[in-house]
Order: sequence, then structure tokens, then C-alpha cells
Amino acid sequence: MIADYVQLTTTTVLFIIIPLLYLIYYRKFRYFIFDQRTKVTKGKTSRGKCPPSFPNGWFWIINSCDLKPGHTKAISYCGRNLVLFRGTNGTPYVLDAFCAHMGAHLGFGGKVCHSTCIECPFHGWTFDGETGDCVLSGVENKIIRMADKYEYHDIENCTPVPNNDNTTNIYLKKVSEKEEIRLKRYICREINGSILVWYHSDEKLREHPLYEPFDLSNELKMNKMQPRGESINYVNCHIQEIPENGADNRHFDFLHQSIIDIIFPFLKFHWTMISERATNPRLSEIMVHPHPEVNAYKMRLLDTFINDSNRRFLNVLSLNCYIQIFSKHKIFIFNATGFQMGPSLVYLFLWSPYFQVTFFQTVTPLEKFNQRVMHRIFSTKPIPYWLSTLMLMGEVKQLFSDMNIWNNKIFGAKLSYNMKNDADKGLHSWRNWYTQFYEGCHEHESKSLLCRSLAYPPPQLFSLSSKLSICLTSLLPIDIRCSSVHSFE
Ligand code: FES
Ligand SMILES: [Fe+2]
Repeated sequence: MIADYVQLTTTTVLFIIIPLLYLIYYRKFRYFIFDQRTKVTKGKTSRGKCPPSFPNGWFWIINSCDLKPGHTKAISYCGRNLVLFRGTNGTPYVLDAFCAHMGAHLGFGGKVCHSTCIECPFHGWTFDGETGDCVLSGVENKIIRMADKYEYHDIENCTPVPNNDNTTNIYLKKVSEKEEIRLKRYICREINGSILVWYHSDEKLREHPLYEPFDLSNELKMNKMQPRGESINYVNCHIQEIPENGADNRHFDFLHQSIIDIIFPFLKFHWTMISERATNPRLSEIMVHPHPEVNAYKMRLLDTFINDSNRRFLNVLSLNCYIQIFSKHKIFIFNATGFQMGPSLVYLFLWSPYFQVTFFQTVTPLEKFNQRVMHRIFSTKPIPYWLSTLMLMGEVKQLFSDMNIWNNKIFGAKLSYNMKNDADKGLHSWRNWYTQFYEGCHEHESKSLLCRSLAYPPPQLFSLSSKLSICLTSLLPIDIRCSSVHSFE
């Protein structure tokens, strides 16, 4: 009797409970998503005088798997309202959201048609994602629609002007006749499982990206890496504060020293860092690493990713992480080679004697002082799913330490740098490098955008549940949005 009971229990465990536990584990950790619940923190902090809010460059907007063919999405980034849709040909397109006819939002009810077009839900005007042209629907060869343009003479005061016949008043005047109708289109790239959009304040350069985002596919394949998770967080600060952090080598020992204080108070991280522009002819010399394997990996990365067309837009960093035990013994944990590309993308390649991990980090300004930060982790296949999740959450823990500063600081137009100190010299040089991405932005923003600071609910970033979720990732409710496994092909 007892033997039967034991046998039944063993069989149940073997055939039902173990596969079930594995399924839960697989679904939860195979591609782990940490999505910050409080989307924004607060927007009322005075930031002081700042550079423009929306620099020129590539910005991450969505994961490829979140946009199926024929689907549309209303998106907002760089203070703009846009429509993103995937044509039935599989290509993603981004256009200004508001229809040129009477201003309906194409992202709310717009339908994808004619392979590359979107039809307005209000009166059916159709816009081609390839060009932005409004084309006559149902007509072959995509003939561009022509229309007359009217404008209020004085929209705010509603002052009339006499009509031509001088007997009646009119409020709307014709400003052009038979003009070709089109919407602004934005260049997209679909790469490494993400859709990125190019933004430039200069209308001519809006159509011609100055550099290209990295294609990581060869690198990931060579190192047998796969995507393992991502974190999405929202920060209230100026965009520059976030990438600047990567060039700020002094802050690591203050903000990023702790591992998990409660459990390992005797273990501390210790960091050393070099940050240099890719245009420096001595870059390889400066980046040399004493560890031969790290050095070989680093030199190969520099050769693979830097070329003459992107050099100007890249800043390279090399970060060493050690663990210090009882403030004495130092153990080398990893070196990270990082490429800051343009104002918003960072590629971070970690090499360690124990593991190899790559991070893709992005910051996308949604509104002035409201940034969405996405970090994706790729790890080598033998690393168990729970461990890559733990690594991601370890990184999120470090990010939260930064967010506590960013959410509450002013931008700091006037700075007190100590130029005898290499760290501040580095920051000075980095700010000079980053400023190139603001060219023409101020003029464009003051003319075309209403840049305002939004009022948001008070910060709840460091609630008990957030802390718990960071220490004990398995307790975290997660959002498996696409499927348990993202496709990054
Ligand atoms: S508003 Fe879009 S067709 Fe009329
Ligand atoms: Fe930091």
C-alpha cells in the first residue's frame, strides 16, 4: 500500500510536476522582461538651462516582434506624434501621424493597404510609407493626390479678411493650388530584432542618415549568443544625462559599489574605466588591455565596428570590473568594451573568464525630460536562463542607482570641473563630443514643437516591491508580451 503510494507520488513528480515547473521556468526566464510599472516619475523638477531635448540620431522605438505585417501603432517620440506600420510586404514604415486632409490620427484606425500604404480612417486618403506621398486609392502606379491648401487667416483671434468680391468676409484663405500632398516620413531600420528610426532636425538629412546602427548578427553568431531579456525603465531627466554616465568614471565607485548589501556586505565592486573618442588616431594604443584574451577580443571589436563613416559618431569605453573582498583582495570579473553611437545607442561587449554577455542599451526621448531606457541582454547559450536573468537584474539594480540621481538633478549648464583630475577632463571631452548631435535642433524645436515638461505622479521607483524584484527576480510579475521567445532574426 505504502509502496503504491510512493510509486504514485514519484510518477506524478516525474511526469507532471517536473515538466510543469520546467515550463513555468522556461516561459518566465527564457526571455525575461522587466517593465517598470511606474512609467514616469515626475516632471516638475527645475532642470536649469539645457541643450535641445531631441538630438539628431538613431532612436530605438519598438521590438520587431511587436509589429506584425499589416499592423499599425500610434507612437510618440522626440516630442512627435507618429504612426508606425508594417506593410504587407513586411517592411516597417514611420510617417507623421496626422492626416494632411483634416488631421485624423492614422495610428487610430488606419488600415494598411497596397502593400506599403496606410489608409486614413476618416475619409480614406492613402499615404505611401515608402515616400510619404498621398496616393489616389485604388489606382495603379500610385498617382500622387493633388489638392488646394487653405489656412486660417488668423486662427487664434479669428479675424476675417474681405473676400475678393468685397461683400463678404472669409476666415480661411487659399495658400496654394493643386499641390502634391505628402506626409513627413522617417527612415527606419530593422536590425537585431529592433526597429530604429532616424531623426534629424535638418530636413535634407532627415532622409539621409549620417551613419548606420551596428549589425550584431555576425558577432552574436560567432560567440553563440542569444537574446535573453530586456528591461524597460522611464526616467525624468535630460537625454544627455544618461549616456554621459558611461563616460563618468568617478561615479562608479560611489553609486555602483554594492552587489547585494544585505547578503554580501563584505563584497564590493571596484571599477576602472577609460573613455575615448573613436577619432583619436591612438585609440588602439589607449585601449590596450593587459589580459591577452580581453585585449584580442577588444581589438577585434574595434576593427569590426569602427569605420571611416561612423568614427565621428562613436565614443569608445573600456570598463574593468573587480570584486573586492573585505576592501583587500581584488578579483577580476570582467572587462566591457562599449561603443556609444550617436546620442542614444550603446553596445556593450562584456568579456569575462567566467561568462560572455552583450548589452544593447538605448534611450529614447518621448517628451522633454521624459526618457524611455531599454537595455537588452544577449548571453552565450550555455548560461542558464535564470543566470542571464540575474545578470540583467543586477544591471537594473545599478541602473536604479543612477535613476535616483537623474530623476532629481539639474542639468548643470555651469560646471565646476577639476581639470587636474582625469575623470573631470574625460567628462569635459565627452560633453564636447556629444554636443555635435544638437546641430540645428534648437531652431527646429522652437519652431516646430511644443516642448513642455509634463506633470506626472510622484516617484514610486524605490517601493518595497521594486527592491524585492531586484533582489529576488523570481518574485517579479513579468510581462511576456510577444511570446515566451522573441524572434531576433
Ligand atoms: S482626415 Fe484623413 S482622409 Fe480626411
Ligand atoms: Fe551609472
